[in-house]
Amino acid sequence: MPEPATADHFDSAKVLTAVAEKAGIRPGDRDWADFERRFHVHFPNLARLFHALYGSRPDFQDQLISLAVEAARSWQERAAELKIQDAESDGGWFESNRVLGGVCYVDRYAADLEGVRARIPYFKELGLTYLHLMPLFLAPEPLSDGGYAVSSYRQVNPRLGTMQQLRGLAAELRANGIRLVVDFVFNHTSNEHEWARKAADGDTDFSDYYWIFPDRRMPDAFEQNVREIFPEDHPGSFVQMPDGRWVWATFHTYQWDLNYSNPEVFRAMAAEMLFLANQGISILRMDAVAFIWKKLGTPCENQPEAHTLLRAFNAVCRLAAPSLLFKSEAIVHPDEVALYIDPAECQLSYNPLQMALIWESMATRNVSLLSQALERRHNIPPGTSWVNYVRSHDDIGWTFGDEDAAELGINGFDHRRFLNSFYVNRFPGSFARGVPFQDNPNTGDCRISGTTASLCGLEDDSVQAVDRILLAHSVAFSTGGIPLLYLGDEVGQLNDYEYAAEEGHEADSRWVHRPHFPAERYARRHDPSTPEGAIFAGLRRMTDARASAPELAGTRLIPFDTKTPAVLGYQRPGEGTLILALANFSEHPQIIQAGTLSGFAPEAVDILSGNTVNLNNGIVLRGLEYTWLRVVPVNWQQS
Ligand code: GLC
Ligand code: GLC
Repeated sequence: MPEPATADHFDSAKVLTAVAEKAGIRPGDRDWADFERRFHVHFPNLARLFHALYGSRPDFQDQLISLAVEAARSWQERAAELKIQDAESDGGWFESNRVLGGVCYVDRYAADLEGVRARIPYFKELGLTYLHLMPLFLAPEPLSDGGYAVSSYRQVNPRLGTMQQLRGLAAELRANGIRLVVDFVFNHTSNEHEWARKAADGDTDFSDYYWIFPDRRMPDAFEQNVREIFPEDHPGSFVQMPDGRWVWATFHTYQWDLNYSNPEVFRAMAAEMLFLANQGISILRMDAVAFIWKKLGTPCENQPEAHTLLRAFNAVCRLAAPSLLFKSEAIVHPDEVALYIDPAECQLSYNPLQMALIWESMATRNVSLLSQALERRHNIPPGTSWVNYVRSHDDIGWTFGDEDAAELGINGFDHRRFLNSFYVNRFPGSFARGVPFQDNPNTGDCRISGTTASLCGLEDDSVQAVDRILLAHSVAFSTGGIPLLYLGDEVGQLNDYEYAAEEGHEADSRWVHRPHFPAERYARRHDPSTPEGAIFAGLRRMTDARASAPELAGTRLIPFDTKTPAVLGYQRPGEGTLILALANFSEHPQIIQAGTLSGFAPEAVDILSGNTVNLNNGIVLRGLEYTWLRVVPVNWQQS
């Protein structure tokens, strides 16, 4: 890689003058002084990162200047109210114990953007402060991968509404204390995006936007080391274009991977990113981050340059949309997940390991892998946070490290096979009603689809299933980070077995867990005698308890060994007190001995019920029971 340029390769004052001129900005213009100040701080960093990626290219300087011009223009166009948000020093808002996230598809949950707006009162009832709307931009129908095949980042899918409505919705959500999150699908575009069409027509400049090769020579070479992501869709990572050339498509045949080794692609996508930021988006979910950089002879996942790219995109935000944050969607080995979590890269990250291991513990009634993950992989740098979830719109993959499992005497390959058969209900005694996703007979690989309620067996035994649903959420709500609800799960929505009847969905089992708004279930949410009412009330209780417990802010976690294989324990330290969380993954009562709790003063309070608990007697947890105890550590009392 070329030597990074030192800051003095770019006299930022000189560059700034050139940028202002090109962007048509005069020194006294509105808010320009703010930009100038940030430019001096962040441009040298951007220049260094850009040089590291593209320094050997002849067009490097021109592209960098164009990028800065783009940033300057975007800042000048940014709405005053967004600039107020930029100026507020609440950068760490996401570490609050009051933050609660929800995610939904606009069309399936609320028909369109107006429908989402109409649900704001419900979001407030639920306590949401963060709303992720699944991809809502122009995408070809019906083959759009649920919107993840974007054909224009600047146009809302007309079925859902308009860009003006999106801006209005963002503002109204903001006024109600809810931040809007949307996807930045930046690894690939739809094959119907204007750039892709031009590439398909043979335009050489736009062919360079993608990874296009005249024959199989390079695709074959790359595929030596690259894993198949959607093997049921197409083998390998390339698909043939109508003119016989081959184009990189990691996901579906119609999702073409962008070529970030071309600085023009970075600049073009940075412009799309800033456009979205200016619509009032607070967080971008960085889709498929692991895949954005390709290098021959490597798996083309998690390359060091992927991190440099994210840093560079981040530096662009710091110039032109300072309050915008990134959430990493890296569903990969936990060592690699951790590398994206950095205030200068992705401030937020999904926590796929915790998610998968909640399900693993539920199947095995043994929390050893989950405890190990909390001990070893939970604590992350200041200024960052997890997004903890029980399930998402995607499949559940068993992303734990084989070496972590081996330490506990577990064979990763065999264990994944067991988990897959358990969750598709092929294992005797299983309660789960999942279905396989991307079953790959060549590798033995498989992932799981299913709603939370169906994976917990709500169809069969509602009492235990409700307990399991709440148990799973109790972990996501209390280990530290933003809890993210898949909306509809709070009323126990079930698998949608009709999914294959919808055009374009038949070959993708993830649609089984993306049902339409379950209106009847919502109607029962206040009736405690129904499963819906019990789940809803349980989650509300957790939300309230969490909001009133400062110990549950941030992500810091101290492990706790319950000395009981089925019971998960961890501590969340506050000032003088801490929350001891316990979760019994077995259907049978479990006892935590008084001796195990001797590090705490005997008087404890269960913050979910308000009851006092005497630890001198030990604790008996009913089957599938969880509790959050406010305790005082003995050594703190003494000091
Ligand atoms: C992400 C999305 C997934 C989509 C893929 C391709 O993993 O979560 O739904 O299929 O990216 O965009
Ligand atoms: C993601 C993950 C993969 C996941 C898929 C979406 O980016 O890497 O494991 O299953 O895309 O389904």
